Amino acid sequence: MNYELDFSNPDFLENPYPYYKKLRALDNPIWVPQAAEMPSSSKGIWFFSRYDDAVTILKQSISISNDVSKVRSESETNPFFMHMLNRDGTDHARLRGLVSKFFSVRYIKSIESHMAKVVEDLLDTIETKKTVDLISDFAEQVPFGVIANIIGIPVTDMPKIREWIILIGDGFDTMLITEDIIKKQQQALLDFLKYLRHLIKDEQFDKESMLYSLLQAKEEGEINEDELIGMVGFILGAGHESTIGLIGNGLWLLLSHPEQWQLLVKRPDLIPQAIEEALRFESPLQRSNFRIAEKDIDINGFKVKSGEQISVIIAAANHDENIFDDAESFNILRNPNPHIAFGVGIHNCLGKQLARIEVRIAFEKLIARFPNMKLQSTVPKWRRNTFFRALNELVVTP
Ligand code: HEM
Repeated sequence: MNYELDFSNPDFLENPYPYYKKLRALDNPIWVPQAAEMPSSSKGIWFFSRYDDAVTILKQSISISNDVSKVRSESETNPFFMHMLNRDGTDHARLRGLVSKFFSVRYIKSIESHMAKVVEDLLDTIETKKTVDLISDFAEQVPFGVIANIIGIPVTDMPKIREWIILIGDGFDTMLITEDIIKKQQQALLDFLKYLRHLIKDEQFDKESMLYSLLQAKEEGEINEDELIGMVGFILGAGHESTIGLIGNGLWLLLSHPEQWQLLVKRPDLIPQAIEEALRFESPLQRSNFRIAEKDIDINGFKVKSGEQISVIIAAANHDENIFDDAESFNILRNPNPHIAFGVGIHNCLGKQLARIEVRIAFEKLIARFPNMKLQSTVPKWRRNTFFRALNELVVTP
């Protein structure tokens, strides 16, 4: 069977899951040619959509590489891309090790009261309004407050960082790319790079911050300047973009399933389970970063040739009916829920516990304070991006 997936089809952007279902039913993964506009030496990408294949690929780190510089042009491999997700082996371990203490249970515990304060201040403002956009007034603001504090920058820098990250992220969406998007991405990369270079010259950092710790590591020769810039830029982006998606998607799913919202009002202990189901059902990162086959490899019977690119459609794997009963239903009581929204293998999300706790605090406080919150519209306004699944706005009456 031949099946072409048109990622620019508005129906796909609205609801990709029926398309993913068709992909999972195919004998083979699909080959999506690289958009002509992409400044890349690669010709296309194999997209894998079944859960078993996804896990096999993400767990494989010996014959599958994450090093984008092997196939991408120089303009795509500037310092901004020197972070851990694009590195292999000992370099990956070294970079991940340098920041891992900021993701430990102990560290996250130490910032829980800060997270609660960020959420409560936002809820105080929401209380004064008749209608609220939960994306701009809440989903964006929570991760802004949290990640700025961890990195050690003023929270007032976050809105402009978000603008750059959106333009850079649109440029990553190889499926919808146009020359105009590439131009805007290149400009955003230059502006963000300028900001980061300026940032690391500052000498006034809080000694507890990640930036201070990375600058110390640079002094000691454990990380070079390009890697430092790549790591700070990546964690600033990763630290807010998908979390905004999770908060917005989760609140949309709960408010559009009022019986499940009401269940959480009565049983807040179910909030962590509801978050896992939101991660599965509307995965904020729909696909993994792409990887490159280091040699001819076999993925559960399918042959990928050396040098070819591979990507996993995480969101398709999370709807695989072979793993999840009634996979197309949103059900906060689902248990077990072995979704892979945070990836698996050595590149599994370093910020996953932080994101889980941050969003738990946000949902607990919001639901307790506004148990009768109502949607203004039952039509979701999805962002036009096939990589990040997130809403542009979510208007409610608190
Ligand atoms: C709901 C929120 C989040 C989701 C859904 C998410 C998802 C993911 C996924 C799927 C990956 C693996 C990508 C791949 O293998 O290609 C990943 C990696 C990563 N994420 Fe997250 N993430 C979230 C929040 C965060 C936060 C809050 C941070 C940091 C503050 C963060 C930092 C990272 C880092 C550093 C990596 C790369 C790990 C490595 O290469 O070893 N993420 N994330």
